Amino acid sequence: MDRDHDDRIGRALEVLRSGGLVAIPTETVYGLGADADNAAAVRRVFSTKGRPADHPLIVHIADADAMSVWAADVPDDARTLAARFWPGPLTLVLWRATKVLDVVTGGLDTVALRSPDHPDAIALLRAFGGGIAAPSANRFGRVSPTCAAHVAEDLGGDVDFILDGGPCRVGLESTIVDLTGEAPVILRPGMITADAIEAALGRAVVRTATGPSRAPGMLRAHYAPRARVELISREGLADALAGCRDERVGVLRSGADMDLRIRDGVRAYDLGSDQDDAARRLYAALRLADHDGVTRLLVVLPPEGVLGPAVEDRLRRAAAATDS
Ligand code: TXA
Ligand code: MG
Repeated sequence: MDRDHDDRIGRALEVLRSGGLVAIPTETVYGLGADADNAAAVRRVFSTKGRPADHPLIVHIADADAMSVWAADVPDDARTLAARFWPGPLTLVLWRATKVLDVVTGGLDTVALRSPDHPDAIALLRAFGGGIAAPSANRFGRVSPTCAAHVAEDLGGDVDFILDGGPCRVGLESTIVDLTGEAPVILRPGMITADAIEAALGRAVVRTATGPSRAPGMLRAHYAPRARVELISREGLADALAGCRDERVGVLRSGADMDLRIRDGVRAYDLGSDQDDAARRLYAALRLADHDGVTRLLVVLPPEGVLGPAVEDRLRRAAAATDS
């Protein structure tokens, strides 16, 4: 690695060790990181984000070996999934070890663990040796940041150092799977699908979390731009456009709908041609719509399944945030 790279990791390390906040690049989204063993630093994560204290944070670790530091007993399923998907966009909810601070878990008996797949995050975690507690580095309820500029825009001077690792390769938050019950439960869909998890485990997983208490912070309404978001079908576009003459309108569409005619003055945003593209581009597109002053964003939703469960989940939440 070059000198500049070493300097940046070194600076991030210093900030973490002194109880500061570092924005860290991961393959999913940027995280707002603090030393998971430093209660004051973790509290500052909550206040900086404006996040309620009962919404627990994910502890980021260098590799699967560190699971047993943070989890009380590590089930075989956790080892299997870590071996198959880590480092990567999968978070495991396990029974917490006694050392885990209450402020990290929001007082829950469980802890969420993830080993992120980004060279800078891995270098930092290895050098640090401990765990980094980090939520997405956005203000509470807003769109997650997928590049360093997004973090600066949201948190600016409230974060001590932004470790710029370029644009996020995946672009959507990790899949969260709870391994503390009878059967594994997907608490948040992500780019590692329920099918892939079932295949790795050789048993069924529960795809929708029913109890709202299981993943505090998984609100129905979330991930929202400022614009009012409405999900429509391809056939519904003309009517929807006709219905919002007085607004600054944007249209967000993907692959199959790129041929749709959009009248002058309406901003168009593209999700690209496949599920990976859509995941990578979604949050930047929502932020761009905000920058453009769009007040009403019409999302042309292809038939269910085309964009994949994770992108569809985020779009539904963005629309729910602006319901009523
Ligand atoms: O990809 C990601 O997961 C990103 C990057 C930075 O790693 N992080 C992220 O963090 O999306 P955040 O805080 O925005 O979302 C974490 C979610 C929250 O919905 C929280 O409720 C859930 O994880 N969570 C954390 N600890 C939990 C636990 N012990 N039990 C159930 N859910 C938990
Ligand atoms: Mg978040």
